[in-house]
Amino acid sequence: MTPLTVLVLGSGGREHALALALSRDPAVVALHCAPGNPGTATIATNHPVDPVDGPAVVALARAVGANLVVVGPEAPLVAGVADAVRAAGIACFGPSAAAARLEGSKQFAKDVMVAAGVPTAASVYCTTVDEVAAAIDRFGPPYVVKADGLAAGKGVIVTSDRDAALAHAAGALPAVVEEYLDGPEVSLFAITDGRTSLPLQPAQDFKRVGDGDAGPNTGGMGAYTPLPWAPDGLVEAIMARVVDPTVAELARRGTPFTGLLYAGLALTSRGLRVVEFNCRFGDPETQAVLAMLDSPLGVVLDAAASGRLAEVGPLRWKPGSAVVVVLAANGYPGVPDKGGRIAGPRLLASADNVSILHAGTALDAEGALVAAGGRVLGVVAQASDLAAARADAYAAIDELDAPTLFCRRDIALKAAEGRIPTPPL
Ligand code: AMP
Ligand code: GLY
Repeated sequence: MTPLTVLVLGSGGREHALALALSRDPAVVALHCAPGNPGTATIATNHPVDPVDGPAVVALARAVGANLVVVGPEAPLVAGVADAVRAAGIACFGPSAAAARLEGSKQFAKDVMVAAGVPTAASVYCTTVDEVAAAIDRFGPPYVVKADGLAAGKGVIVTSDRDAALAHAAGALPAVVEEYLDGPEVSLFAITDGRTSLPLQPAQDFKRVGDGDAGPNTGGMGAYTPLPWAPDGLVEAIMARVVDPTVAELARRGTPFTGLLYAGLALTSRGLRVVEFNCRFGDPETQAVLAMLDSPLGVVLDAAASGRLAEVGPLRWKPGSAVVVVLAANGYPGVPDKGGRIAGPRLLASADNVSILHAGTALDAEGALVAAGGRVLGVVAQASDLAAARADAYAAIDELDAPTLFCRRDIALKAAEGRIPTPPL
């Protein structure tokens, strides 16, 4: 077992979850985050380094003696930070800039999917609002208009209001217009070294801000795993029809994908379709998925980063279910209120099946924990089933004193009550 000194890049709930899982791997002897957050500070050493600044990341990795860098968010990947780390001779879990275009450009992702025969929504690339108008009229409502580039989950509008679709398009050019996909959504993460890919447990994310899927899209308001309503063979089908052909197509192009391939899918009445690819762990699904992982995360990510994933067997999972509920600052996904005090138990340590993961938090001048971003906390509970995990997560939320934060109250509710019909594969 190689002792691992790991540097995690990023500062969100996903990075806190990654750091927590890494801290529980006996192979991980030292853990650093850049920049991290007040939550990661309890289990790792935080460094005030910008994760998008390749030379600064390399200098930090050298200074702390990191032999594995794990890149959390998409921005450093799209900016080529993984390339810079690898060029410095340090193993890096995260794709090259060339492979990260799978997330960085919706149109590039469509090209790859068409070439690889991966099922996805029909789409039209548009550079003017007139082209968008023609495309949405061709597909009919509900209209789906997406900014081509990175938009932190907020570049997409799904609406039956034609004027709203066109107004969104005006601020989102160049844009991709897509056919509407019905059916439940699934997030499936695969760890890959560019040849061998290992699936994680599938999860479901809640993208809309309000209960009952009301309101605008967000980065994600909650998630749960696994999916009690999933059709038999779901993971195998996604690997065979989506992940493996996509990984093979990127290798064929000379830009192999090493890291985490996130397939966002709709299980439509006509079969599964890719909604989006991301080039990194999802946030907040990761917080729930890693709560279920029984395999040592550092060993697995190191094997992927070093091209040795074939030596790692299938991942092991705990029995039961996990739920994460996001607490966001009032105003999110618009301009969030900042500076609201947060108090309560478990905020800086977790001793039981519930963890409070930090995202947009900070310490104020008096050392008090305050809201400092849109998504502020993720409360994760792991229990024997979804109903128990939900109950534990919401009980922990109800113990918090955080008047400027809100959450959805229906995360995993339909699934826990058996109200999601099993879709066809
Ligand atoms: P994306 O950034 O592409 O993942 O889109 C964000 C969210 O918008 C998705 O998770 C879906 O909820 C929704 N969405 C995106 N594309 C479609 C589509 N073609 N049909 C229906 N909903 C979609
Ligand atoms: N939860 C959606 C994302 O990470 O993009």
